Amino acid sequence: MSLLKKVFNQFRSANVNSDIVFQTNLKLIEKAHHQTSYRGVTMVKCPFDLVLYQMIISEVCPDLIIEIGTKKGGSALYFADLLRNIGCGEVHTIDIEQAVDEKVLKAKNITLFEGGWQNYLLENCQGFKRIMVIDDGSHVYDEVLAAFEKFNKLVSVGSYYIIEDGIIDQLNIKKAWYNGGPLKASLDILDKEPSFVFDKKYNDFFGPNATFNPLGYLKKV
Ligand SMILES: C[S@@+](CC[C@H](N)C(=O)[O-])C[C@H]1O[C@@H](n2cnc3c(N)ncnc32)[C@H](O)[C@@H]1O
Repeated sequence: MSLLKKVFNQFRSANVNSDIVFQTNLKLIEKAHHQTSYRGVTMVKCPFDLVLYQMIISEVCPDLIIEIGTKKGGSALYFADLLRNIGCGEVHTIDIEQAVDEKVLKAKNITLFEGGWQNYLLENCQGFKRIMVIDDGSHVYDEVLAAFEKFNKLVSVGSYYIIEDGIIDQLNIKKAWYNGGPLKASLDILDKEPSFVFDKKYNDFFGPNATFNPLGYLKKV
């Protein structure tokens, strides 16, 4: 047997016999999700949610996505490209300050809004028929509720109001900073707002609550 073949066989049997085990945990995913990028632009999303987003966007085909919380704009670019690929619509992305990447500035179907969601004018949505809202802003409980109050009526039946990052409860990130955080806000909304239901299909798609947005996929019915 040639030396090369011998090395190859050893390598193969090592792979077969050793434990090739899928290993990760929430902390590792959380660390990596801060380093994720799309087309080279920083994007703060967990991989499960990226897949869920493209499924939801294909399902709803919104003509407008309102995103609260732009940061560098990686997620806005991701949504805008998905919309362009399926021929639907555009993204209004809102932040309190703009530090976005050049690619985001150049995207034809993204409009940036400064001054926070509090200063976004609802007139900007006139003429759009299938609207989806994604709240990835401050994650402070009271602000999540107040943003929902402002934007939820825009969401079309069959579309979604998505509240991001309820996962912070499990990550033991100082909940006090968020005054209860997004998960508490989602629970309150589901309790009081009959026009939205919790979408188990996406929430549990990769396993129960295997998303950074547990109880955050709120579907308008
Ligand atoms: C988690 S980051 C957004 C990440 C981005 N969506 C992504 O996935 O790449 C949260 C952003 O919310 C912004 N933010 C905080 N308060 C806000 C407000 N009142 N209105 C809009 N954005 C806000 C912050 O400045 C920050 O850039």
